[in-house]
Amino acid sequence: MSSGADAARAAELREQIERANHEYYVLDAPTLSDAEYDRLFRELRALETAHPELRTPDSPTLRIGAEPASRLVKTTHLAPMLSLDNAFEPAELIAWETRNARIAAEVREAGYTAEPKIDGLAVALTYQDGVLVRGATRGNGTIGEDVTANLRTIREIPLRVRASGAPIPALLEIRGEVYMPLSGFAALNTRRAAEGAATFANPRNAAAGGLRQLDPNITAARPLRFYAFGVQLGPNGGGSLPVHTQGELLELLVAWGLPVNPRYRRCPDLDAVLAFLGEVEAERAHLDHEIDGTVIKVDSLALHTELGVVGGREPRWAIAYKFAPDLATTRLLSIELNVGRTGSLNPFAVLEPVEIGGATVRLATLHNEEDIGRKDIRPGDTVLVKRAGEVIPQVIGPVLEEGASRGEPFRMPDHCPSCGTPVEQPSDEVMRYCPNGACPARIYWGLVHFAGRGAMDIRGLGEATARQLLDVGLVRDVGDLYGLRLEDLLSLEGFKEKSAQNLLAGIEASKTRGLGTVLFALGVRHVGETAARLIARAFGSLDRLLAADVEQFARVHGIGRTTAEALAGYLAEPRNGETIEKLRAAGVQLSEPEAGPATGVFSGKTLVITGTLPTLSRSQATAMIERAGGRVSGSVTRKTDFLLVGEDAGSKLTKAREWGITELTEEELLARLGTLETLTGDG
Ligand code: IVH
Repeated sequence: MSSGADAARAAELREQIERANHEYYVLDAPTLSDAEYDRLFRELRALETAHPELRTPDSPTLRIGAEPASRLVKTTHLAPMLSLDNAFEPAELIAWETRNARIAAEVREAGYTAEPKIDGLAVALTYQDGVLVRGATRGNGTIGEDVTANLRTIREIPLRVRASGAPIPALLEIRGEVYMPLSGFAALNTRRAAEGAATFANPRNAAAGGLRQLDPNITAARPLRFYAFGVQLGPNGGGSLPVHTQGELLELLVAWGLPVNPRYRRCPDLDAVLAFLGEVEAERAHLDHEIDGTVIKVDSLALHTELGVVGGREPRWAIAYKFAPDLATTRLLSIELNVGRTGSLNPFAVLEPVEIGGATVRLATLHNEEDIGRKDIRPGDTVLVKRAGEVIPQVIGPVLEEGASRGEPFRMPDHCPSCGTPVEQPSDEVMRYCPNGACPARIYWGLVHFAGRGAMDIRGLGEATARQLLDVGLVRDVGDLYGLRLEDLLSLEGFKEKSAQNLLAGIEASKTRGLGTVLFALGVRHVGETAARLIARAFGSLDRLLAADVEQFARVHGIGRTTAEALAGYLAEPRNGETIEKLRAAGVQLSEPEAGPATGVFSGKTLVITGTLPTLSRSQATAMIERAGGRVSGSVTRKTDFLLVGEDAGSKLTKAREWGITELTEEELLARLGTLETLTGDG
C-alpha cells in the first residue's frame, strides 16, 4: 500500500516533469537538464511500478511504452469538426466579408484573427476535468479514430491543462493541428531511404502516417508537433469560457499550457488582413514547417453564433486563404520522347491532368534516362509533380504505396522515335542521340531554335509556323527560309498580307546578326552562345572557319575538345554544307565585325556569365562587354575578374564565391557600362 507521502511525491514529480515538457516544447525555454529530467522520470516510474494505484491518467509515464493496439477504435466528436471554405484572391475575401455583412453588419467593425494554416492533420483532444482522456483524428468530421496513446507521445500536448484563474470547463475538446517540421521530415525520409523503406511524399502524409499507427512506439519515433487553434465545449453543463474573441481564446489556450502558433495576428479590418497575408507568404519559405495558406476568422465569438455554419460543414465566420500550391501528385500515364535539335532523346512525362498552382499540368520533364533510373520512375506510378512559377513542370519522383504492384522500369529505345535511325550514346554522356541530320524532329526543333530569341531572332516564326513550313515542304532546312516569297506565305493557313510581310521583314532583318549568332543558331551540338562567339571572333569569317580543322578549333581559348570535334563533325557533313551555302547565297552575313575598341571599362578583364539574366540575352551581354574591351569566357578560373550572375546560377557561382571573384548583377553591369539606354536595343 502506498503512503500519503508517496502519493504526494508522485503528484510533485508529475507536476515537475510536465512543467519541464512545457518549458522545453511550448515555451522553448528549458530550465531542467536532460539528466535531471531523466532522474525525475525514473523516480516516478519506480513509484508507479511499486504502487500501481498511483498511476493517474495524466502521468507523463503514459507518454512512452504503451502497448500496440489491435485496431484503431472509432470515436464521436463533441460537435462536428468543420472544414473551411477557400479563397485564392483578395477579391474573394472582400466578397466573403460582404456576404457576412448582409447577415451581421457588425462584421466590418469586429476585426479578424489571421492564423497561418499549418499543413498537417486536425485532431481533437478531450479533457475531462482538465485531464487529457482522449485524442482523436478528424476522420469524416463527425467520427474520428481514437489515437490517444499516440497523441500522448507528443510532449507538448499537456496531459492536464494548467490552472489559469478561471474555472476549467468540465468537458472540453481542444482542437488543433498535428504536423511534422520540415527538418524532421527530411531526416525521417533519409533514414527510411537508408533502410530501404518507402519515403513519404510530403510532411503531411508523414504526420498522418505517424499518428494513425497501432503502435504508439512508432509514433514516438516520428518528430510530430502540435499547435492548438480552437475549443469546443461539451453540451449543456459543459460550462462557458471567459473569452469573447478568437484572439482572447488563443491567449487562454496559451495560459492553459497549450502550444499556439505565435505567428497569428489580430487585424482591425480586412485591409490589415491583406497586409498580413503578404507577410505570411514572404515568410513561408523560411519556416520549418509547411503552411498552405492563412485561416482568417471573425474575431468576435458572438458573431460566430450569429453567422452560423453552411450545410453543417463550413462556418461562415472563417475562411482559408490558400497559396497556389506548387506540388501535386498524379498518375504517370506514360513516358514519351522528344527528339531535340541536336538529336538528343529527351524523355517527358504524360500525366493524368492535375491542377497545380491554378494551371492544369499534363506534361512534365523527366531530364534523362539516368535520372529516371536513379529515381526509379515507372509508367503507372503515382508521382509527385512540381510546378514553380514559369518553369516547366518537373516529376520529382514516385510516391510508392506499400505493396502496390508496379509496371516495368522504363527503357530507352534503341532507335530514334522520329526517324527510326539507331541511336548513339557517347560514352561520357547520359543522353542518347539520333545521329541522323535529316531526322524530321531534329529539323523541326532546329528551325525553331534558329529563329528563336538569342539566335536569329526572327519575329513571327514560332513553333506553329515552323511546323507549317516543313509540312507543306516550303522549307527543308533553315537555308530555305531566305528563299521564301510573299505568295508562298499567303498559301499558308492563317497568313494574311500583313503577317506574311512581317515574317519576310523578320527574315530579312536576321541577315545581319553576324557569324557568332549564325554559328549558335545552326544548333551544333555543344556549341552554345559563348562558344559560338569565341569561335566567330577567333576566325572572323565563315570561309576561314571552313578551312580550319579540329586542332585549330581546340586551340581557341575557351573551346574544349568536345566542342571542337562536334563543330568539325558538323561542318564536314555535306548536308550542312548545303545549308550554309544557301545562307551565303541569300546574303546572310557570315563574318564577324573587326574586334571592337580594346579600351573600355572592361579592358583586359575576363568575365563569365552564369544563370539567366533578367533582360539581356547572353549574346547581348557578351556583345556589350566586348565593346567595352572585356572578354567573356565559358568557365570560371582563378583569372576570372567578374562573374555576371543571373537567375538560377549554378556551380559557377559556387566556384566564384570560393575564389572571391567579384559578382555583378545585370543592373551593375549596365551601370558600369554607363549604357542603361542600350537595354532597348536588339544587341
Ligand atoms: S480552424 C472552423 N485554424 O485547416 C474550424 N484550421 O481546412 C476549422 N487548419 O481541418 C478549423 N490551421 O486541419 C483552423 N489555425 C487554423 C488551422 C486550421 C490549420 C486546418 C485544420 C482544418 C483545415 C480546414
